[in-house]
Amino acid sequence: MANKVEIILENNVVITQNDTVKEFVKNSTGGHCSIVVGDVHYIVIKDSKKTPLTLEKVRATAGNISRDLGKRKVNGASISDDVLTAAYKDLDKGSVLTAFAEGWDLGAYQFAKYKPSVTPFRTELEVTGTSIDAFINEGKIRAEATEFSRDLMNEVSNVLNPTTFPEVLKENFKDLNVEVNVFDKKKLEEMEMNGVLTVGRGSMYPPTFVELVYKGDESKPLVALVGKGVTFDTGGISLKSGKDLSDMRMDMGGAAAVSGALTLLAKMKAKVNVVVLIPIVENAADNTSVLPGEVIHYKNGLTVQVGNTDAEGRLILADALIRAGEWNAEYIVNIATLTGAVVNALGTELGGVFGDEELSAIMKKIGDINGDFNWPMPLVDAYDSSLDSDYADMNNISSLSVAGSITAGLFLRRFVPKGSKWLHVDMAGVMDKSKDSGYYAKSATGYGARLLADYTTHISK
Ligand code: BES
Ligand code: MN
Ligand code: ZN
Repeated sequence: MANKVEIILENNVVITQNDTVKEFVKNSTGGHCSIVVGDVHYIVIKDSKKTPLTLEKVRATAGNISRDLGKRKVNGASISDDVLTAAYKDLDKGSVLTAFAEGWDLGAYQFAKYKPSVTPFRTELEVTGTSIDAFINEGKIRAEATEFSRDLMNEVSNVLNPTTFPEVLKENFKDLNVEVNVFDKKKLEEMEMNGVLTVGRGSMYPPTFVELVYKGDESKPLVALVGKGVTFDTGGISLKSGKDLSDMRMDMGGAAAVSGALTLLAKMKAKVNVVVLIPIVENAADNTSVLPGEVIHYKNGLTVQVGNTDAEGRLILADALIRAGEWNAEYIVNIATLTGAVVNALGTELGGVFGDEELSAIMKKIGDINGDFNWPMPLVDAYDSSLDSDYADMNNISSLSVAGSITAGLFLRRFVPKGSKWLHVDMAGVMDKSKDSGYYAKSATGYGARLLADYTTHISK
């Protein structure tokens, strides 16, 4: 017997015509169950009335089935588009197909590079039906782009660092219509990227800066996507403490998000005009590291006291925002694993979005649909003076002991080029998952790739 399964719904006659089978399915736990009837192995999607039917639920259901079958080394699974459409009849048919394919591939994701004994196994999905290929293909591309972001985030910092990260990007974009420009330390000195140079000073890897240019349609407004690329955050001289800081290798989650977003846009041949800006540093503690109290002179004239070397993300993003101004970007979105405070505020299911209020409302709606959930946060003017410094234009830490994600946003706002429409996404809470669930594996989420790609597409209409 071929090692294949067929996916059906609970209300299928195969189930309903036989009381024993029906009872078995009814009493099984979880969102789906596995049963052999005759000589066919069925996966039955159970009709959960508890949660509303959303595209996220489609993705999660597909992800759970795919992970389950992959573990059991099942070669293939088939489902007809009619079954899918019937299961989620209130949702748009094409979107359901895309979501199922996307969730399927993402659910099978594993980062097993450092587990030689594990050979990742994927169950091939076959959706039968006519005129469905474009939707399925889109789902696959969305998953691939998100998996690229996940791989970048999961990678360890001696392998992915300011020297190697640009090479990985060159390789990723080599067959896509994307120009990859890499600035080395010498070039950064010429360009006066003093935030990047200062934060990167203590590392054995000199800092770099990558620009990715995609001209899908040059008549569209230029969108700059800026991602924080700290390949490891020790905190620097303001050293972090903790039992295990391994997750701080994911402090380039923003860089992973913008890289994944552009992968998605380029693979979809999106009619958008984008420049991606990625400052890449390792925030290390060494005798060459920046010391608390030092002052950075930025290219736009502002001076910043480095009150705390662990508030490094904003220091490198400032250079990138200034650079976005040199590009005359009309829209700017920066995304970063910026503050622990946003995790206190929103937890691990939502990113925080700061900046233009109308655009943050749009961003929220996009996340509700595509699964990169986020919520608008306020930039409270009254807190702005908490960034005052005794001897520079500002300090990189706030004098307040509260509202840390807001004051980080206020810091960035001071560097936003005049006339641009700006948003800042703080993704510190959503960078990883603590367990396998839905289409997520324990480890990096790849958050932001879909969010920024869909946002860019939306504002370029
Ligand atoms: N990369 C961290 C923020 C972070 C924390 C990301 C937890 C993911 C999980 C950032 O560079 C940082 O250290 N922020 C400090 C800022 C503080 C010194 C003002 C923080 O949040 O504690
Ligand atoms: Mn830090
Ligand atoms: Zn950091």
